[in-house]
Amino acid sequence: MYNSKIIGLGSYVPDNIVTNDDLSKMMDTNDEWIQERTGIKERHWAVPGTGDTTSAMGVKAAKVAIERAGMDKNDIDFIIFATLSPDFYFPGPGVLVQKELDIKTIGALDVRNQCSGFVYAISVADQFIKTGMYKNILVIGAELHSHGLDKTTRGRGVTVIFGDGAGAVILSREENPDKGLLSTHLHAQGEHFKELSLVAPGMGQRWINDILKDNDPDDESYFPYMNGPFVFKNAIVRFTEVIMEGLQKNGLVKEDINLLIPHQANLRISQFVQKKFGLSDDRVFNNIMTYGNTTAASIPIALTQAWEQGKIKENDLVVLAAFGSGFTWGSVIIRW
Ligand code: UT7
Repeated sequence: MYNSKIIGLGSYVPDNIVTNDDLSKMMDTNDEWIQERTGIKERHWAVPGTGDTTSAMGVKAAKVAIERAGMDKNDIDFIIFATLSPDFYFPGPGVLVQKELDIKTIGALDVRNQCSGFVYAISVADQFIKTGMYKNILVIGAELHSHGLDKTTRGRGVTVIFGDGAGAVILSREENPDKGLLSTHLHAQGEHFKELSLVAPGMGQRWINDILKDNDPDDESYFPYMNGPFVFKNAIVRFTEVIMEGLQKNGLVKEDINLLIPHQANLRISQFVQKKFGLSDDRVFNNIMTYGNTTAASIPIALTQAWEQGKIKENDLVVLAAFGSGFTWGSVIIRW
């Protein structure tokens, strides 16, 4: 058995910044409400036609990660891509990355676990490396939310939160059992699937033909739905539980955490978790203020930025944790 460790990180966000004031020109909202409830000041939204698709942003982040890993792209053995906003209904973006990077015919897997997508994806990569099946895996989380949001007052409870972007890591074999990913912890509770969902078009619901046939201006089924307060309440409980689970599994305590990188769902959620664990500001990394919630991309973007800013040092205990649609949630405990 081997461990896996992160040897390269990269991120990419579209240039176009959308402020809360910009949003207030599209819908009945305001900077004060958004900042008070979410901590978000602005987010990046891709401009249609500029080529910033989910897979293209993933490729840009991946190129940086590969270069920083100091490896040749053909040393990558496998690709895992997490997103809820793929370029196409099928095939998923993993194969598009393989094509775009012009890598030999390695496998490419798509992960559909929304805000927990990156945590699930890196956990899957870790298992492949642990068993010795693969040595180097490219793991990407990317989202293009902005093209699929309801930008009217009707959608304001969801739309103001989300941003576009991508993050990527190269996970590689580590011989030292005390280094790298120490453990990953995954959970789901499908009974709440409707509370944060986008139900159409779907084979089990309404397919495109039905939507077009009905041509109903009040149809909201193809916009994301979120029962915000219910998701919030569940998030703070599950974040806390799954971080605790990871610490206990490794015989660690909250004081051992050098840096917690929570999925950037809402600054208030991160602050609740920070308080619960008694962590000082320098031991929690947040960037939701300027990126919004980028779902599967949020942790790899934040991780990359924390690393770039020198906030992660050799031997640090880094904890990743996520919660979102499904519900799904999880944590990753890393000895850097
Ligand atoms: O990443 C995946 C996981 N996602 C999350 O963890 C998100 C969890 N939930 C949340 O972050 C919060 O629930 C929200 C930020 C989404 C909403 O905050 P809230 O404090 O729960 O507000 P609310 O949904 O209870 O709405 C309060 C009021 C409502 O008006 P009334 O009914 O009290 O008159 C909404 O219509 O705020 C209104 N409202 C808005 N007002 C201005 C909702 N969205 C907006 C808006 N601007 N954008």
